[in-house]
Amino acid sequence: MDKNQNPTVYTGDIAAERIDPAKEYTVENQEIVFSKEQHAIWADLYAGIHQPYLLEHLCHEYHRGLDLLELDPLHIPTVAHLNGHITSRTGWRIERTAVRYTLADDWYKKFAQRVFLITDYLRTRDQMEFTPEPDMFHDIFGHLPFLTQKFYADIEDKFAPAYMKATPEEKEVIKRLAWYSTEFGLVVQENRFKVFGAGIISGRKELTRTIMEFYRLGRDNVIDYTRPIFPQLNAHFLANKTNLHRIIDGVNALHQKGQMSSADQGWNVVLSLYQSLGIKQDGIFGGEVIIVPFDIETIARIPKTVYAFNPMLFVCESLERMDELLESYLGPIAARI
Ligand SMILES: [Fe+2]
Repeated sequence: MDKNQNPTVYTGDIAAERIDPAKEYTVENQEIVFSKEQHAIWADLYAGIHQPYLLEHLCHEYHRGLDLLELDPLHIPTVAHLNGHITSRTGWRIERTAVRYTLADDWYKKFAQRVFLITDYLRTRDQMEFTPEPDMFHDIFGHLPFLTQKFYADIEDKFAPAYMKATPEEKEVIKRLAWYSTEFGLVVQENRFKVFGAGIISGRKELTRTIMEFYRLGRDNVIDYTRPIFPQLNAHFLANKTNLHRIIDGVNALHQKGQMSSADQGWNVVLSLYQSLGIKQDGIFGGEVIIVPFDIETIARIPKTVYAFNPMLFVCESLERMDELLESYLGPIAARI
């Protein structure tokens, strides 16, 4: 095959699938018999993240939720176990789906009924550190500890009513807001950056990469952790907003051209972008991921999620503030007649 005629196109996207009712699990038939190897993969994934040096960087609500959910470190839980620990607390129900990555419209239809879908797919041994595709470990270990708690149910409750009434452009923004909050959000607690998003929590590579950036910000004197950290981050953000938007526009252009390289090389793509844009690699741009405040205008500028690789993560001052910011965008849309 001539390479030039068939250049490798890599957008970083995962193709979403529509739910086919004929292939779906029924309400009565939600449980799967997992193989010994699948339980072993679950146990290794669980143990890999359940390490004190990683757990200390997760927000308080995750710890509380993990206690409440009572997951078995050695076995994949049943749907009955999950619902037994979630529904009475927040009213949400868990349903198994045969779809590996559900189309947003189908996903939010279930969300409107307070149903959280978990896929029946579990990653394989060669994806222990990172999988771009959300699997059942991501769904269960990353999201469900939070779904035992009212504040999280309240946040999740905001998305579907807005999505149902949104214009196509607004739907894209809503997907980004979900992505950078419940999937990849950060929060400040006890004057430290803490991980909130399920996409970071459920992947060792994403998690360690994020934690390393927390330390790098201190090491490179970008953030002084002896003083309030959020105002410092905000000052860096305001001073660098133009360059930040130039980077986003550059990533989007590469994405649209299918030039995101591969998941492993994602950062290299951004590095060469820095060079071509003449952006110096220091301050908030000095690491492998750019951490900035949760700014809806900036998030809305990212028109397409690049699933395999997140060049930016967004932080809220608190989870209450995250709720307020999401409400400021979603509330007025949901309130439309
Ligand atoms: Fe997720």
